[in-house]
Amino acid sequence: MDKSEALALGLSAVLLLVFFVAIVFASAARGIDVPTCITDPDPFERGQLIEHAEDRYELQMVAQMWSFQPRRIEIPAGSQLEIYLRSGDIMHGFKVEGTNVNMMAAPGAINYMSLTLHEPGTYALVCHEYCGVGHHNMRGEIVVTES
Ligand code: CUA
Repeated sequence: MDKSEALALGLSAVLLLVFFVAIVFASAARGIDVPTCITDPDPFERGQLIEHAEDRYELQMVAQMWSFQPRRIEIPAGSQLEIYLRSGDIMHGFKVEGTNVNMMAAPGAINYMSLTLHEPGTYALVCHEYCGVGHHNMRGEIVVTES
C-alpha cells in the first residue's frame, strides 16, 4: 500500500470516528432527536388531543392547506406530549418554536416525536416548508399551563 493511500485511509477512519462521537454526543448529552417515521400507520382522519393520563397526552396533528388541526392545544406543564403528525394534502413543515421538535408532514406517512414542556407559556407552531399562498398564515400554538 502506498504511503498516501494509508494516510487517506487513516484520515477517513478518524473522520468516521469523529462523526460517530458527534452523533452520540448530540443524542445523549444534548437531547437532540430525529423524528420516527411510521410507515404502516393506522391513519387518523381528524386532528385531536387525547388525554391518556394526567401527565401524558397524545396529539394527533393534521397539517393541511393552510392550517394545523387542532390549531391550539392546552396541556399542563411537565406533561409528556406524544406527537403524531400527518399531512392532509401536500408536504408541510411542523416546528414547535423554542424546542427540538422539527418535523415534516409528508403525505402517506406519520411522523412521531415526544416532547415535554416544563415551562408554562405559549409555544408557537409554524409550518416551515413553503406550501402555497397561505403558507405564512399556517400557524398554531401549544399553551402550557401551570401544573
Ligand atoms: Cu404548510 Cu407551509
